[in-house]
Amino acid sequence: MSEFIPPAKPIIGDEERAAVDRVMRSGMVAQGPEVAAFEAEFSEHFVQGRPSIAVNSGTAGLHLGLLAAGVGAGDEVIVPSFTFAATGNSVALTGGTPVFVDIEPETFTLDPAAVAAAITPKTKGILPVHLYGHPARLRELEALATERGVALYEDAAQAHGASLDGRPVGTFGEFAMFSLYPTKNMTSGEGGMVSAANGEIARMLKLLRNQGMERQYDNEVVGFNARMTDIHAAIGRVQLTKVDAWTTTRQQNAAFLDANLQGVVVPPVAEGAVHVYHQYTIRVPEDRDGFVAALKAEHNVGAGVYYPIPNHRLPSLAPYAPGLDLPETERAAREVVSLPVHPSLSQSDLDRIVAAVNTVVGAGA
Ligand SMILES: Cc1ncc(COP(=O)(O)O)c(C=O)c1O
Repeated sequence: MSEFIPPAKPIIGDEERAAVDRVMRSGMVAQGPEVAAFEAEFSEHFVQGRPSIAVNSGTAGLHLGLLAAGVGAGDEVIVPSFTFAATGNSVALTGGTPVFVDIEPETFTLDPAAVAAAITPKTKGILPVHLYGHPARLRELEALATERGVALYEDAAQAHGASLDGRPVGTFGEFAMFSLYPTKNMTSGEGGMVSAANGEIARMLKLLRNQGMERQYDNEVVGFNARMTDIHAAIGRVQLTKVDAWTTTRQQNAAFLDANLQGVVVPPVAEGAVHVYHQYTIRVPEDRDGFVAALKAEHNVGAGVYYPIPNHRLPSLAPYAPGLDLPETERAAREVVSLPVHPSLSQSDLDRIVAAVNTVVGAGA
């Protein structure tokens, strides 16, 4: 059988290795000049110069972002349930309550009407996820947040470079978090970058990542060690020079799949949205798991299911959502399949993916 096509494939090359070597040879590997340079470059590249603070994971970025925005015990933050557990976890870790709300079926992102219905006097903010690299319904959510006097934050873990009406994600929220995990659209090994809407939040993020201090032994607040190392930042700086070309390739791969897949619903793109295809996610309404198994067994094509269990059904987060019913979330969790779309795919890989999907769908019809 032909070689396995993996659902994701991090690209780490000679330049990344050389950058790591350069930092190792300098003898200074903890947070230092590479992190500062990475923050400045990321800020210019993705978020129109908003202050950006590097941390050691995307999850830490969400947690610290929420704390910096003042979320704590007694506060509610509205989140989707159809996402990676880090979104709800980070709210719970502040002592606040994640309030899970349904998604709208086209883009798999928070449904603004459902968000509006879930706002209470305890709501501190709304934390949409730009799932799979497609921007959430930011126009409606921004207007709603303003109208109801709550904050807007962004989980942009999967959406480096996505935009709506020409405005990049990461410039809408009080803070926005980008993950730099290896399978994301760019990586630093592990890591996260948090963009802040103002200097006050940026300063608090810096304090929280470093034991609450800007100057040694002048600890102003209780903080963590969530610092990024210069080794990771050096990898991230190289990746930053390549991510735009990778995104273009992802978009071209997606366009090819859109044009050639038959009998499945291809991912819609909302008007004014730029989708960066962290995942290329279709729906398979009948026997999704059988479909994924057949792609692998009969065609050696890997596909991912993100996410089979809604967060409000996880043993860890279910206590925050007793009796909650989110029909579109449940349906998406049953139906979604993410096909390979990563920039390492060759034309023959893309042809094989199309042939595999069309054959398996045809066989089931
Ligand atoms: C939507 C979402 N939020 C948060 C995270 C957490 O990021 P990290 O894995 O870098 O901690 C991820 C990535 O795994 C994610 O996909």
